[in-house]
Amino acid sequence: MAFFAERLARVRPSASSGAAQRARELRAAGRDIVNLGQGEPDFPTPEHVIEAAARAMRGGATKYTDTDGTPELKAAIVEKFRRENGLAFEPRQISVGAGGKQVIFNALMATLDPGDEVLIPAPHWVSYPEMVAFAHGRPVVLPTEEKCDFKLAPSALEAAITPRTKWLILNAPSNPAGTTYTADELRALAAVLERHPRVWVMSDDMYEHILFDGRRFATLAQAAPQLAERTLTVNGVSKTYSMTGWRIGFGAGPAELIRAMATLQSQSTANPSSVGQAAAVAALTGPQELVTSRNAEFERRRDALLPKLAAAGLPCRKPAGAFYLYPRAHG
Ligand SMILES: Cc1ncc(COP(=O)(O)O)c(C=O)c1O
Repeated sequence: MAFFAERLARVRPSASSGAAQRARELRAAGRDIVNLGQGEPDFPTPEHVIEAAARAMRGGATKYTDTDGTPELKAAIVEKFRRENGLAFEPRQISVGAGGKQVIFNALMATLDPGDEVLIPAPHWVSYPEMVAFAHGRPVVLPTEEKCDFKLAPSALEAAITPRTKWLILNAPSNPAGTTYTADELRALAAVLERHPRVWVMSDDMYEHILFDGRRFATLAQAAPQLAERTLTVNGVSKTYSMTGWRIGFGAGPAELIRAMATLQSQSTANPSSVGQAAAVAALTGPQELVTSRNAEFERRRDALLPKLAAAGLPCRKPAGAFYLYPRAHG
């Protein structure tokens, strides 16, 4: 009898976490290392957020909380969706987890049966297919073209849907290509999905606020409200507020799905960190100017690096958002 479970063979360790770990080891050994392994802003967490967390700790926010988020944080998230996305959710439609990563994991674990297919446009965040496979699903990677800015075409979506398709994962601005969709482009994808009422959509909006050249952010639940009953919108504080280590992410969608995710979470992490949740309340409800100024700094860095990469033989199209460059290396 093997000691390790069969399910372990279906998942590979996170490549980006592995690279970051190696960078930390080399740094600890005294080497001068620039760590580009994981997607995290180099800015510090805003001072008022740190202050709020310290106050919360002293005020007793050191105990277990409600499984999928404190009432204060859920209220702040409801308000964020109203203010920034024009979306109306109730607290029972909100799930808070230890990062967007746990929220996505919970949603997949709560819904996938063996053989269920999940459509993942490529290039994609490394974790999606691994999580799908871990949940016994089948990741179906949909290639896209650089000349189309790595966008999923409605015809490609239509062609990929089968009777086993359960989810489409849409991530924009995307990791790693910085691909974004306009509201009209989202509506064109939604028109396909309307013909396939069994297919749910996970809209991973983690990079919402890292968007360049004056573009306006669009998310599926707002562009296509007719799909709201089968859309899970995922977001978090990691990238927007430089809070990757605090581990707070959230999802918003149909209450039945949110309840199922809470059941899973109640038997794994029990709840996200009480201190992290208090910090996230401060981030979401406090001053937002830093979000804009840091975005401008990411845009400046993009523009500074693109010609240098091209000169080094690594041509790269201009990403519309997210803080990654996705150069061509085949030369
Ligand atoms: C596309 C995407 N979604 C979700 C996440 C998860 O972020 P977190 O778990 O820190 O909220 C990441 C992190 O790199 C990401 O790139």
